[in-house]
Amino acid sequence: MKIFVDTGDVAEVKQAAEWGILDGVTTNPTLIAKSGKGFKETVLKICELVPDGEISAEVVATDYDTMLKEATEISSWNPQIVVKVPLIEPGVRLVRTLSDRGVKTNVTLVFSVNQALLAAKAGATFISIFVGRVDDISGDGMEAVAESVQMVETYGYDSQILVASIRHPLHVVQAIGAGAHICTMPLKIMQMMFKHPLTDAGLKRFLEDWNNAGLNIFEKQPAGV
Ligand code: E4P
Repeated sequence: MKIFVDTGDVAEVKQAAEWGILDGVTTNPTLIAKSGKGFKETVLKICELVPDGEISAEVVATDYDTMLKEATEISSWNPQIVVKVPLIEPGVRLVRTLSDRGVKTNVTLVFSVNQALLAAKAGATFISIFVGRVDDISGDGMEAVAESVQMVETYGYDSQILVASIRHPLHVVQAIGAGAHICTMPLKIMQMMFKHPLTDAGLKRFLEDWNNAGLNIFEKQPAGV
């Protein structure tokens, strides 16, 4: 499974990239606005920090012609960029155009397997299914993920199912169970994934035993040993 960090904050991208496990970054208009920096400047800095990653940057128009102009501009900035497109009628049309031109796309704001089918048929590279926002209104966001994974596998579409709007580490566990291809999550969720009380307790015990024995990795060996 690929792991993306979902942020417009370059400091967060830098931290996640340092762990050496980051496959890409997703942004959206809200996250970019929150960063307080310019769109192009932020996206290009992210590309630099994750040189082998897939970096999603979203169009903001809602009519086909303007969306196409924005997508052409955004995708010209760096070959790593994946154009993020909302699941609306002109959006699906745009995905078909971009896919025919070999431009990668990430279809966003997807909440149902029917929407995912439209995106897959248009040639979407990634289909972002938002789980947290459905859970927020007492639904089961992961249902559409499981159905969409099965849908792309059954019919042999190339699209990858990306689980978005992740709120806690259990969403990641459930996404793995559903066979999703990618999870995008806030940095804070990635940090929580490292945590296990038995890891902390086990490490504490190892270090106490080591120190009590007076051992040192770098001590000089006596001559002849
Ligand atoms: C995905 O690409 C979106 O940017 C993101 O996951 C939305 O998450 P939210 O529902 O927490 O805003």
